[in-house]
Amino acid sequence: MITISKFYITTPIYYANDKLHIGHATSNVIADVLARWHRLIGDDVFFVTGSDEHGEKIEKSAAAAGMQNIDFVDYEVRKFKELWQRLNISNDCFIRTTEKAHEEAVKAFIEIIGRNQDIYKAKYSGWYCVHEETFWTELELKNGKCPECGREVKILEEDAYFFRLGKYQGRLLEFYNKNSFVLPPYRQKEMFNRIAGGLRDISITRPSVKWAIKFPLDQDQYIYVWVDALVNYLSALGWPNGANFKRFWPPDVHVIGKDINWFHSVVWPALLMSSGLQLPSTILATGFWTVNNEKMSKSKGNVVDPIALIDKYSADALRYFLIREKGTGEDGSFSEDAFIARINGELVADLGNLVYRVLTLAEKAGEDAKFEGRNELGKKLEMEKLEKSMEGIDINSGLNAIWQFIREANKYVNENKAWALHGAELSNALYNLLEACRVISILIYPFMPETGEKIAAQLGAKIEFRQCAFSPDGKFSGKIKKGGYLFKKIKV
Ligand code: MSP
Repeated sequence: MITISKFYITTPIYYANDKLHIGHATSNVIADVLARWHRLIGDDVFFVTGSDEHGEKIEKSAAAAGMQNIDFVDYEVRKFKELWQRLNISNDCFIRTTEKAHEEAVKAFIEIIGRNQDIYKAKYSGWYCVHEETFWTELELKNGKCPECGREVKILEEDAYFFRLGKYQGRLLEFYNKNSFVLPPYRQKEMFNRIAGGLRDISITRPSVKWAIKFPLDQDQYIYVWVDALVNYLSALGWPNGANFKRFWPPDVHVIGKDINWFHSVVWPALLMSSGLQLPSTILATGFWTVNNEKMSKSKGNVVDPIALIDKYSADALRYFLIREKGTGEDGSFSEDAFIARINGELVADLGNLVYRVLTLAEKAGEDAKFEGRNELGKKLEMEKLEKSMEGIDINSGLNAIWQFIREANKYVNENKAWALHGAELSNALYNLLEACRVISILIYPFMPETGEKIAAQLGAKIEFRQCAFSPDGKFSGKIKKGGYLFKKIKV
């Protein structure tokens, strides 16, 4: 039984100087599938994505492009929005960290944790990686370079303000012991061990990075880009005063990549504890895509552009592949061959073929044909398993359960030799098959919205969750209007 409730879901906000690739696209598709699923089941959904626009990296990229910082980010962010539109990402809000309201929210947040005695001034010295915007200890460096990206690091000493992260060790451990907070569970363990190993206070200001929000407690300092970025989850709801804050806080799921788990699963909860705000329910740390088993990087020139794939194969095909090819928490290797194999072997041969065959038979049966019978095929749909997977934020398993049903429906056509049936037997088979296609159109909708709508239109049916079972009166009552193939076979 699904209970109706509010559902607040977010993606990482991407650096405005990044060229977005299939890795970024995956986080947004995962969040979109969950947002659409929750809207479908009747929840009150708020879905946020956006752009992270401050910091040294952005400043450098703008300078390299010969542009003013703000013009540069305006230009880049337009491309983000275009990509999300092309991928049918149904976000309710696009938050930009250069918006006035966001900047005010960040300052208000800092003032609260300052009042709670969690900020102090000290000298900061450490190995700093510009690319990761992170200080590292000597021990953490890998061959003297940044352990995250392998780039050169430099010693930086400066006055800074610190957040008392260490003070929250006990409360964080207690919270981790009581809650299943980070998914997959082994990522929770990883974070638990790091917390248990001891937490150093973290610097939350920089005197030198001026493309940033001013630190409200000292006019010579600027707020560290990660604190600025995390507060987007609040400012997107209009915190502190917005009605959406009251309606949607706390977040139900933060979809992130495993690389930024520390910030979301340790730093962010501690900041929220300090500010007295409720903690998110779940952090979903997704795995990474490599390309033909190699790390994607500009220097290797193997960065996969989602727009090119959408142009070539459609948004739905890409959404399908990104979710179906690997579990959300796992790493996976992208290759165009594997993508084409799934299009031809599954989207064309399973789903497209089913819908085409069933509608051809229904149309052949004639305008006055009745599609009536007893529910045989509906029992093969493992609805409970599907709902449990979606509730457990395991959308890869959810999609697998739908696919199992699509295959059962094709099997039903073959085993009953539906094409050779007549009279009552044909009517019964088509009742089962048309109802199966109708239910599939609803279930597939969060994953492939255009395809779900196309199937529903061919059946004269609606995408409504309460209709997501075989009709109890034993009749299919849609109006058939067969269309073309849902997916084109790709020649290899
Ligand atoms: N701006 C920060 C996030 C702040 S959130 C408050 C940031 N941005 S980013 O542009 O570098 O993108 C981060 C996210 O992109 C990763 O966490 C991950 O979700 C996604 N990915 C980047 N490369 C990826 C892959 N190769 N594969 C899968 N996802 C990847 O960090």
